[in-house]
Amino acid sequence: MANEPHGGTLINRELEGQAKEEAIKKAESLPSLTVNPWVVSDIELIGIGGFSPLKGFMGQADYESVVNNYRLSDGTVWTIPITLPVTKEQAEALNIGDEVALKGEDGIIYGTIEVEEKFTYDSKLEAQNVYGTTEDKHPGVKKLYERGAVYLGGPITLLQRPDHGEFNEFYMDPTETRKMFDDLGWKTIVGFQTRNPVHRAHEYIQKCALEAVDGLLLNPLVGETKADDIPADVRMESYQTILKHYYPEDRTRLAIYPAAMRYAGPKESVLHAIVRKNFGCTHFIVGRDHAGVGDYYGTYEAQEFISQFEEELGIQVFKFEHAFFCTVCGNMATAKTCPHDKENHVHLSGTKVRGLLRDGERPPKEFSRPEVADILIKGMKQN
Ligand code: ADX
Repeated sequence: MANEPHGGTLINRELEGQAKEEAIKKAESLPSLTVNPWVVSDIELIGIGGFSPLKGFMGQADYESVVNNYRLSDGTVWTIPITLPVTKEQAEALNIGDEVALKGEDGIIYGTIEVEEKFTYDSKLEAQNVYGTTEDKHPGVKKLYERGAVYLGGPITLLQRPDHGEFNEFYMDPTETRKMFDDLGWKTIVGFQTRNPVHRAHEYIQKCALEAVDGLLLNPLVGETKADDIPADVRMESYQTILKHYYPEDRTRLAIYPAAMRYAGPKESVLHAIVRKNFGCTHFIVGRDHAGVGDYYGTYEAQEFISQFEEELGIQVFKFEHAFFCTVCGNMATAKTCPHDKENHVHLSGTKVRGLLRDGERPPKEFSRPEVADILIKGMKQN
């Protein structure tokens, strides 16, 4: 049975049929704002219930409560602000109570917002409390500093889901994943967040989890990521390959998570867990340096942070230590299960792996499945 949604009710902010047609027509004559792909992905996730219990972009009380206390103003756990930034000039041109069309950079109206609030915010405080740093070298903080100075708060309506192109066949909304889990007869489901190809360490922790639950939802993030992350199309091909060759078909499903990556480490691990709960997962994996970047977060900081909310979150967190291949054990292990010295462990940095792939060389099979390596090498050549 799929898990309860966060806050108890799966939010649906989408219109259908005639009402949708009429709303789209009406939206064309509303004042409009052009929003970036990150905001479009937030509109979609709010609209389909992935961000339940949010019904729109956060107002000031929720925003400040999230930034300072990691909870919505009603006490519900929530650790990442979901906001609609605009410039001062844009904000001045709008009135409270206005309904505003939210247009993508492609000119498509993805939704509307009923503007309930306009408020300024302290970007340094948001950076420090959400990302743990005020440095603009951090990719999430950099984006934050580039935003307009005012946030608009209010409920949204989703009018048009973004087209996920070649990923459409792997797109499911929370209602669909929940039904799928029920149809499959899965009572316990582990969700796996990733923005990387599935390497042996990922495979190991997924399969350790799968020993204890009925099914695995491989749920890669395919929204905005930083430039040196492997592009989503290459990763999607690699996921299909590894599933085909190394995973039991009846216990694994692949679906995209169409969100932007914040790189907020500990704070983002909680958001990632909440979203997977909304998609129906009963379990969620947090391994080493979850949603981390550079050395901004400690290896197990996300695990420590999420632990304080675990009971309230209502999704069980599987925490895994750093996994590696041990040449003496002859298998994947962690410090919890392997007694041998570090020099027996196959460790490769991201930079080293990227270098090998760029040179057309497979990383060792103890690090990456050859079928996956070949797809990454091909992808590196095309990009
Ligand atoms: S993330 O930014 O989406 O978290 P990544 O795709 O690398 O990055 O990680 C996906 C999940 O696997 C995260 O929970 C992460 O903590 C975990 N993970 C990645 N590599 C390892 C590893 N070597 N050992 C244990 N857990 C890992």
